[in-house]
Amino acid sequence: MAFTQPFVLRWGVVSTGRIAMEFVKDCLINPATRDTTDVAHKVIAVGSRNGNVQRAQDFITAYGSGAAIKAYGTYEEVYADNEVDAIYIGSPHTQHYDNALAALLAGKHVLCEKATTSNAAELRHLLSVAKEKKLFFMEAMWTRFQPLTKEVKRLAEEGALGDPVVLHADLSHDFQPETLPQTHRMLDPYLGGGALLDLGPYPMIWTVLALYEHPSNKKALPTSISASMVKSPITGVDSSTSWTVNFTSALRAQAILSCSMTIPTAQFGATIRYQNGNIIIGTPIFKPSTLTVQYFDKPGSGNVVREEKRVFEYVGGGWYYEADEVAKCVRDGKLESDLWGHDKSLLLMDTFDEVRRQGGYQLPAGVEKVV
Ligand SMILES: NC(=O)c1ccc[n+]([C@@H]2O[C@H](COP(=O)([O-])OP(=O)(O)OC[C@H]3O[C@@H](n4cnc5c(N)ncnc54)[C@H](OP(=O)(O)O)[C@@H]3O)[C@@H](O)[C@H]2O)c1
Repeated sequence: MAFTQPFVLRWGVVSTGRIAMEFVKDCLINPATRDTTDVAHKVIAVGSRNGNVQRAQDFITAYGSGAAIKAYGTYEEVYADNEVDAIYIGSPHTQHYDNALAALLAGKHVLCEKATTSNAAELRHLLSVAKEKKLFFMEAMWTRFQPLTKEVKRLAEEGALGDPVVLHADLSHDFQPETLPQTHRMLDPYLGGGALLDLGPYPMIWTVLALYEHPSNKKALPTSISASMVKSPITGVDSSTSWTVNFTSALRAQAILSCSMTIPTAQFGATIRYQNGNIIIGTPIFKPSTLTVQYFDKPGSGNVVREEKRVFEYVGGGWYYEADEVAKCVRDGKLESDLWGHDKSLLLMDTFDEVRRQGGYQLPAGVEKVV
């Protein structure tokens, strides 16, 4: 189907934090810089909580590139704006459920930051509402839409590497928690603080891509998970977490994953080990720029006879790829993305529930709105 004019998706943004800033800045980049001509983005409104119109206005002044964007002092006004098609939610994890539910009930499509919700039950409820109201819903798993990731998917499935066997992935960052207020979203259990819900989605995106999505896995869910957490002495949230995810229904594959908020990230990034070679994804694994593929001389030898390295460069931050996916899906009347569909977000949240259960990390009473 040929499009003479791009389809313009009109966004409402709730919250004025760091990642909302990155998203808005990226939405305002000319799509032609990434060879996109069929969709475009317009930011219509930005909302801040607690009647703080000034905060929303300051955000627009700082990051709005001079566009005429409306400032609101409540999120509700953003949901109610008739000019808005889709809501971007950039609040802390434990606010996502309430924000997304309100947006859906107001008839808006939703792009919701990771971790999508506090738990899988909240996500299941949101998905049922989105389905009932025939609205698009997607977790903002931006890494999945980057060109490097699409190339990993192609290489992983073209056949030369065989089946995946072991995947290692880590995402860590030293947030220096001892210097943060206890109300910071990384430390506050009421905001879902800790390493897992913030950093854990990224080791999981590579697990989903390389193991869950692999054709030999036949869409089978993980067969077992084992997990361990080290808690922060400051507020008891997880400071370092490791977990394994086994896929043994159709594959014989295991993901070995970790995240920490008190140390820089591990240099191995994400390494996927196949029968016939390796795919090595550079750091940071949320937006890698290097991709190395190694091929063995024969299956299982470990003897690398061919190595190909590619470097990917991006204009801007790279969040616009997920925005483009939302625009294309909304334009085409889809309710979920083919690349990062509801089953994948549920796989993440079900895994995180189990990791928190085994690690003994319970969110405070009342934080989880659906249990
Ligand atoms: N995709 C990515 O690359 C990426 C990167 C970092 C973070 N994230 C995700 O994005 C979300 C926000 O992270 P961030 O780093 O942008 O956080 P942040 O800088 O702390 O911003 C969060 C914003 O949420 C709003 N908010 C709503 N309810 C809140 C509450 N009870 N307490 C504090 N703030 C509240 C606030 O804006 P107003 O007061 O203006 O409403 C605040 O500025 C998290 O879920 C995180 O996992 C994604």
